[in-house]
Amino acid sequence: MRTVKMSMNEAVIERARAVQQGSVPASEEKTAPALLPDQIEMVQESFRHVEPIAEAAAGLFYGRLFEIAPNLREMFPESLDEQGRKLMAVLGLVVKGLSKPETILPAVSELGRRHVGYGVTADQYTPVGEALLWTLGEGLGDAFTPEVEEAWASAYGLLSSVMIESANQAAA
Ligand code: HEM
Repeated sequence: MRTVKMSMNEAVIERARAVQQGSVPASEEKTAPALLPDQIEMVQESFRHVEPIAEAAAGLFYGRLFEIAPNLREMFPESLDEQGRKLMAVLGLVVKGLSKPETILPAVSELGRRHVGYGVTADQYTPVGEALLWTLGEGLGDAFTPEVEEAWASAYGLLSSVMIESANQAAA
């Protein structure tokens, strides 16, 4: 028996990994990890503080991403301004839609399928998630408590697993 309790963070990361490796049973594939209502509230509340500094946050995000995974730089256009705006806008929509996932899931699935066309592979969602959480930590400072971090890790786990699953289905 497992004596060490897995944190929510680890559980989400473990599931994302299982999805990436294709080892999630077909019956479970559509059950993305759910967020608790107060986690949704934490993600929404904290994002309100990021929105006014969205441009700076996008800059920090790409800086960190290419530090963690320099090989990803060539996948993006030289100027990241437009890309950063799109990323923050989509994140904003997803964050707002968390309380009604059925309203955003089709658009998120489409986004996942478009990413196949950009040459994105499932394993690349890991450094992107790391860079996103790091950026939120920088932007939110002390407000980025362990609970807020866990809520964001779950939200990213949900978003990325839907994108990866729809990409896998498109490839199947
Ligand atoms: C939750 C995760 C992600 C979100 C919300 C996201 C969001 C976006 C958005 C909104 C766009 C603009 C184009 C479109 O709407 O189709 C885009 C493009 C792109 N994304 Fe992502 N993305 C995510 C994950 C990733 C990952 C893991 C990679 C891997 C490197 C990646 C690489 C790219 C690339 C290469 C483009 C196209 C750039 C271009 O040629 O203009 N994205 N992404």
